[in-house]
Amino acid sequence: MTPSETTAPETTAPAHAPGSYPLISVRNLCKHYPLRSGWGFKTTMFKAVEDVSFNIMPNETLGLVGESGSGKSTIGRAVTMLNPPTSGVVAFEGVDLAEQNAHEMRRMRKRMQMVFQDPYSALNPRMTVGDYVAEPLVIHDLCASAAERRELVAGLFAKVGLEPRYMARFPHQFSGGQRQRICIARAIAVKPSFIVADEPIAALDVSIQAQVVNLLQDLQEELGLAYLFISHDLRMVRYLCHRVAVIWKGRIVELAPSELLYGNPLHPYTRRLLSAVPVPDPAIERARTRLPQVAGLPDDPDSHDLVEAEPGHYVARGAL
Ligand SMILES: Nc1ncnc2c1ncn2[C@@H]1O[C@H](COP(=O)(O)OP(=O)(O)OP(=O)(O)O)[C@@H](O)[C@H]1O
Ligand SMILES: [Mg+2]
Repeated sequence: MTPSETTAPETTAPAHAPGSYPLISVRNLCKHYPLRSGWGFKTTMFKAVEDVSFNIMPNETLGLVGESGSGKSTIGRAVTMLNPPTSGVVAFEGVDLAEQNAHEMRRMRKRMQMVFQDPYSALNPRMTVGDYVAEPLVIHDLCASAAERRELVAGLFAKVGLEPRYMARFPHQFSGGQRQRICIARAIAVKPSFIVADEPIAALDVSIQAQVVNLLQDLQEELGLAYLFISHDLRMVRYLCHRVAVIWKGRIVELAPSELLYGNPLHPYTRRLLSAVPVPDPAIERARTRLPQVAGLPDDPDSHDLVEAEPGHYVARGAL
């Protein structure tokens, strides 16, 4: 598939800028899980993600927001093929990932990394953090000697703001924020161009969250990374993301540049999410009203199509 073929109709595939090609192109992604019922004799399919399409441009951060269980992590894992989709296309630089053989997929995986919510469970307690960061360099055979590997890992530690002399320590000797820095160092070791960050700051202290977000931003600038940033924290998403997709019941219901989404939310579900964000001003807080639960959209397939309400701002047709 060539990059131009990944550009789908505007209604389902919001583009970023005319003339530029997406790094990641997701088309009509679905993920269904079998659910057993009736004493295990009956299997129905649970639609965790349904007909999701979006692009991520090089050097761009796309935010994914939505309530718990809406399908954000499922999308993140499907995009990196960690948990492949039931149907739909995920293309990386125009190459359909489902069509790659094991060898090619290994090469592509090097360019797509994931950072998870809980850095402690991602780390191996019996491995020094230096060995943990070096592991992908060994797997992908990227160093000629142990000395070169040590030097590269020391450079990665410095890049994420950790002292290289900590390389010989074990995970329990670090704070939560430092552990997340170690996971980020491992993710960037293989020089990826895309990172899925699934709630990377949710397990961290508020004071440390901003440091990790700033690190992600600095690395984006320095290494030209693109991110899919999954988060519950709508304020952090606004700060970090160029565009934001709102997920509701496994579908994108609104997708827009951050300033448009936060300044002019069009979908009732987006408005409800935003109404729940606390404002650090007692006067505003007292006057703030949380919007009630949103009823489902009409069960007409066309109502889920995204339409462009203003340039770059897409919303489910049923909400208009
Ligand atoms: N392996 C699985 N088998 C069956 N159902 C699953 C499986 N994994 C996820 N689900 C279901 O898919 C839906 C979406 O899950 P997902 O983890 O993507 O949500 P999420 O938006 O990331 O939620 P959270 O914000 O809590 O992390 C949920 O209803 C979940 O129960
Ligand atoms: Mg999740």
